[in-house]
Amino acid sequence: MANIGKDVQRAASYLTQGELVAIPTETVYGLAANAYDEAAVVKIFEAKQRPAFDPLIVHTHSIGEVAKIAREVPDIAYQLAERFMPGPLTLILPKADHVPLLVTSGHDSVGIRIPRHPLTLALLRQLPFPVAAPSANPFGYVSPTSAQHVQDQLGPRLPYILDGGECQVGLESTIIRLHGDVIEILRLGGLALEELAEVVQISEAKIKTSSSNPAAPGMLSSHYSPRKKVLLGDIKTNLGQVDAERVGIISLRELFPSVPVEHQIQLSATGDLNEAAKTLFSALRHLDNQAIDLILAEPMPQHGLGRAINDRLQRASFQG
Ligand code: TXA
Ligand code: MG
Repeated sequence: MANIGKDVQRAASYLTQGELVAIPTETVYGLAANAYDEAAVVKIFEAKQRPAFDPLIVHTHSIGEVAKIAREVPDIAYQLAERFMPGPLTLILPKADHVPLLVTSGHDSVGIRIPRHPLTLALLRQLPFPVAAPSANPFGYVSPTSAQHVQDQLGPRLPYILDGGECQVGLESTIIRLHGDVIEILRLGGLALEELAEVVQISEAKIKTSSSNPAAPGMLSSHYSPRKKVLLGDIKTNLGQVDAERVGIISLRELFPSVPVEHQIQLSATGDLNEAAKTLFSALRHLDNQAIDLILAEPMPQHGLGRAINDRLQRASFQG
């Protein structure tokens, strides 16, 4: 199994030797390798069993470094970076020549992000290279929001997990691409659209919530899925059709008397969607390990992080 600790030095030394290290971020834990070392990057794809067509996000520590990973950074990208980086935002920009095509899955663009976690920022500042890092879960499964989540699934496949505690946002970054002054949302995520809209125009037509999105190859319909079947809809209605002893519940705040309490998770007792986002993935993991047949989840209000939560629940519930 992997060692778990808070030793930034040790993490840096593994990465420098071309090894994998799991890193904490404010969104989810990442599985990192030196972005400029192709032999190291290959290990990411192997450990996750991730198809080569799914590009990786490159993580760095400053806007100055972003400008070295991208071939060009438009003004609007600088404005977004200054406002939201470090933070749960990934910008898709034209890639610099020295970024390996392995990282971008052959695309001429690269996803770049500055994570907002003190340990990982300290790590990135002391490395002479950026790291490529997808979420640290087997391909298609729910993303990890604690060091233990990573250990549970990928522990045998890497030497070290840098433990930064529980992720504060709990949903993957919002991914955007620029088209002049209008942005395209490739993935809803931890940065709410309302916040982005304070800086840029968002075209409603360009919010990619559809199931198959060739521009972000990783956004497959069945992504973020627990092994258990998830039914998304009004919980009370759906409870009428099933054996209440054998279901798990993910609700925003409501409890259901017919269902055992240990099978029920309220994402936020106060109805706070940020808190709900932070709790969602550990709720899915917890219920996935209970003696139940089905998870009933309800849609969240469509604002703030509710939109991204709904996106993940839809993908988790996709029935192919
Ligand atoms: O919050 C996050 O973004 C986390 C943490 C670890 O930073 N990372 C993450 O990575 O969620 P991953 O690999 O699980 O999802 C990244 C997605 C890919 O599936 C892909 O669809 C999209 O980002 N992506 C990356 N580079 C891209 C590119 N050049 N063009 C289009 N989409 C890209
Ligand atoms: Mg992922």
